[in-house]
Amino acid sequence: MCGIVGYVGSKNGIEAVFNGLIRLEYRGYDSVGVAFKDKNKIKTVKSHGRIKKNDVVPGMPNLEEKLKEDEKFKFNSNIVIGHTRWATHGAPSEKNAHPHVSMKGNFAIVHNGIIENYLTLKNELINKGYKFESETDSEVLAHLIEYFYENDILSAVKKALTKLEGAYSFLVLSEAEDVIVGAKKGSPLCLGLGEKEFIISSDESPFIDRTKKVIYINDGELILIEKNKYNIINFEGLNVEREIEEVPYDLEAITKGGYDHFMLKEIHEQPTTIKNAFISRIDHLDTMLRDNFPKLPRNINRVIYLACGTSLCAGKVGMYITEKYAKIPSRAEYASEFIYRDPVIFEKDICIALSQSGETADTKEALKIVKEKNAYIAGLVNVVGSQIARIAGKGMYLHAGPEIGVASTKAFTSQVVAINMFNMLLIDDIKYREKLIDELKKLPDLAEQIIRGTEPKIKVIAPEISKFSDFLYLGRDINYPVALEGALKMKEIAYLHAEGYSSGEMKHGPIALIDKNLLTVCILTGEKEIYKKTLNNLLEIKARSGRVFVLTDDVQAIKDHLSDEDYIIEVPKTLPQLSPIINVIPLQLLAYYTAKHLKREIDKPRNLAKSVTVE
Ligand code: F6R
Repeated sequence: MCGIVGYVGSKNGIEAVFNGLIRLEYRGYDSVGVAFKDKNKIKTVKSHGRIKKNDVVPGMPNLEEKLKEDEKFKFNSNIVIGHTRWATHGAPSEKNAHPHVSMKGNFAIVHNGIIENYLTLKNELINKGYKFESETDSEVLAHLIEYFYENDILSAVKKALTKLEGAYSFLVLSEAEDVIVGAKKGSPLCLGLGEKEFIISSDESPFIDRTKKVIYINDGELILIEKNKYNIINFEGLNVEREIEEVPYDLEAITKGGYDHFMLKEIHEQPTTIKNAFISRIDHLDTMLRDNFPKLPRNINRVIYLACGTSLCAGKVGMYITEKYAKIPSRAEYASEFIYRDPVIFEKDICIALSQSGETADTKEALKIVKEKNAYIAGLVNVVGSQIARIAGKGMYLHAGPEIGVASTKAFTSQVVAINMFNMLLIDDIKYREKLIDELKKLPDLAEQIIRGTEPKIKVIAPEISKFSDFLYLGRDINYPVALEGALKMKEIAYLHAEGYSSGEMKHGPIALIDKNLLTVCILTGEKEIYKKTLNNLLEIKARSGRVFVLTDDVQAIKDHLSDEDYIIEVPKTLPQLSPIINVIPLQLLAYYTAKHLKREIDKPRNLAKSVTVE
């Protein structure tokens, strides 16, 4: 989720924007840049990587050093725009980083959102002789404004707006005028009114330490910011009077987006993060194969997923997908076990490391081992430039944005999307791809639907759920890793004993545990045969007076078997290989609201660390 920030005032705007960008880091980004006026020329400094030097990984590209190359902050510009980019159209790279500059260099823009008709606009501009430097949708904006410009930046922006479809907020810097113009439709934008300065940004975090006075720009509005004044105009050209408000919360509350915990915010981000894991890739599967998985061997021997914790649960989903649909032998391994048993690895084995942080020591070591054994390695990693990403050297970033809550949520769903994308490359069946892509496109809406539909219900039952002392999570086939992940969430944040089990194994031992203090959480979705078999396991529990919480995509088939004491949550149908993405969401919410009722420290559970960098 990109962040934008702009400065007009009498102080050092580059420093203000630089610090503002650091505050926007929590939104997630893979590249960063600023544009400012230097001796009446627009100058841009951009970097793939981080904002600050030595941030996360020493030696990574970063904006700070790039600015230093130009003798840091020497420019002391009073009109500056900046951007943290989170790739949607075009890979994370310096070329695709914002600000984008118009062909003659007269305008620079930063943009948050998606310009849906950018390809049409791009072709029209190319026909008019415009040359494009990046693969982004945003660059059309810079050229379009230049095309319409006739000595008045505001009119040029207004004309450009009539051409745009999509959701956006953007800022424009003009070489000829000492102003910033901003516009908003769909993506957030607000203006901080400081002491002889204005800071305009995606949220209040870039200016909260300088001023609490804020004006929220509404959809369909433009703002013209000059040195000592600003003017808000709607898209029809009429002036708008807007009250100045006081920022009502502190920095932490802003970065939590109004949610009580980062974990809840991250659960709610999933419709977007799921989309971001595939949206810029599905139309370019062949390029993805070449760019993300270069020289992927033919006649693959095995696909081995290596990971820990939640990432391993995603890896286990991968194992089911690879065997069932790509018909390639596959396994998912605890990285911590793998590294100590001198594993037998063949050259035609493909080893995929899965990691949110990209810093997990066991996964990193496992990857090093398979690299030494000359297997083909790749990473599915969230944190850009992290160690695992660098050791792997190829694979896919999840683009889920920073995951701050210690319990992993959105990384899991993005990993399962990425695993599906990767497996599509192994499956040479156009019909399979088409069907999967169709269903992938529906997922963000389904995720939204499941959050909206189940959250109120789970909130209400959480106090009852928190009275159970033990939980048995059951699932079969691809739902077995979902059961493992659901149980892991309950353990981690509610500190309640929860075990994930394959439902068929239940009668080989755990059935002895069934009593009134144990709740069985059963994931009952998918193919008929699997549904039927898992239902039988559930009935075995009911026959012993066990209480159940059922997640199902076929309420009719189960309803008559349940009593008023049981819980039932309906989930929408999707393809089995995508179902873990949907099924895990109610389980995340179940753990969250149970932990909340028990007043646990949800974002930082006891004894746990976000990045486990020791073996
Ligand atoms: C579970 C959790 C951990 C991590 C595990 C691996 O909620 O957060 O189990 O999944 O430590 O971490 P990454 O994915 O960063 O390698």
